[in-house]
Amino acid sequence: MDFRVNCIFFHRLLLIALLHLSNIHNCIGACDLSEGSWVIDPSYPLYDATTCPFIEKEFNCQKNGRPDQNYLSYRWQPSGCDLPRFDGLDFLRRFEGKSIMFIGDSLTRDQWQSLTCLLYTSAPNLNYNLTRVGMISTFTIKDYGVNVFLDRNAFLVDLVNETKGRILKLDSIEEGKNWEGMNMLVFNTWHWWNYRNAHQPWDYIQVGDLLLKDMDRMAAFERALGTWGGWVDTKVDPTKTMVFFQGISPNHYNGSDWNEPKANQCQGQTTPVSGSTYPGQYPPAVAVVKRALSKIQNPVTLLDVTTLSLLRKDGHPSIYGIGGANGMDCTHWCIAGVPDTWNQILYNIIVS
Ligand SMILES: *[C@@H]1O[C@H](CO)[C@@H](O)[C@H](O)[C@H]1NC(C)=O
Ligand SMILES: *[C@@H]1O[C@H](CO)[C@@H](O)[C@H](O)[C@H]1NC(C)=O
Ligand SMILES: *[C@@H]1O[C@H](CO)[C@@H](O)[C@H](O)[C@H]1NC(C)=O
Repeated sequence: MDFRVNCIFFHRLLLIALLHLSNIHNCIGACDLSEGSWVIDPSYPLYDATTCPFIEKEFNCQKNGRPDQNYLSYRWQPSGCDLPRFDGLDFLRRFEGKSIMFIGDSLTRDQWQSLTCLLYTSAPNLNYNLTRVGMISTFTIKDYGVNVFLDRNAFLVDLVNETKGRILKLDSIEEGKNWEGMNMLVFNTWHWWNYRNAHQPWDYIQVGDLLLKDMDRMAAFERALGTWGGWVDTKVDPTKTMVFFQGISPNHYNGSDWNEPKANQCQGQTTPVSGSTYPGQYPPAVAVVKRALSKIQNPVTLLDVTTLSLLRKDGHPSIYGIGGANGMDCTHWCIAGVPDTWNQILYNIIVS
């Protein structure tokens, strides 16, 4: 074999390896969508937030008085390819008569809200219905019979009220009965695993037969992801249902992460970090998620949004969220905003 043959042979191996890995990476062909940088594009945002009438106050930054608009005009430019624009009508046609469910915490609610706006604004005068019963919200585009559900569920595994107290059961996932029969599922859990004291919504963690007052939170998180993975392998029919895991969404409370004074939070940030590298720490939870996903037999795609979101120190509500001046929010994201790109990546994986 001369060098060229070797090279082609190597490329073929690489391609096979990439195709094989594509169920855990955001790849269109050989392009990794999780690496890239943010560029100004005057044709963005994908919709004007004032034309989406049901945005929750928490995410509605422009309505809450955010003065700058530059942050709306950034487009994610992957290093290896272009990310095609989100096409809402194409999305509606593909999911005509079908059901999608998002399951997770308020970062999931952020992504769900973004998708409802992306779909509602994709054509003039679409008819929608939005209802909520218990933890489940239902958004319907009636013209296409497309349902986009949201199940508010911070841990995926069960949190139950018993006489002893509130118990987080790492090995139990009874709530999963609400997720069956969907055509697409998008899961997420992370932020609540580190909450302590008043913010911690449980009194005990149950692992096997043990009832613990506390344990290593990263280990608890990984165990719960294992339970969830078991659910995916036993309850999901991969010929009917696509499964995604929304990756770790980072926050921006510490300016030293992006080479500014530590006291600088996301407030007043009007531009992303330039370039493709974030100076601060990469969240260790991502490795745990990747390890857990690699153990699942059924196809599950990671929406690897961590790096692109790390670069967006300008994308949070800050004081233009639900808490106003008293509730600095550098965790959630403005709508329109960064979660539109998460959904753009989701869409491109679906169509590729
Ligand atoms: C919206 O959905 C709810 C629950 O399915 C239903 O009761 C209600 O009639 C619907 N509203 C409209 C205007 O279609
Ligand atoms: C759990 O039980 C406590 C009292 O034991 C009660 O105050 C609380 O509302 C219950 N929570 C839920 C979600 O049922
Ligand atoms: C901010 O980050 C720096 C370095 O990344 C760290 O040393 C410091 O403890 C952090 N401060 C807070 C308040 O978290």
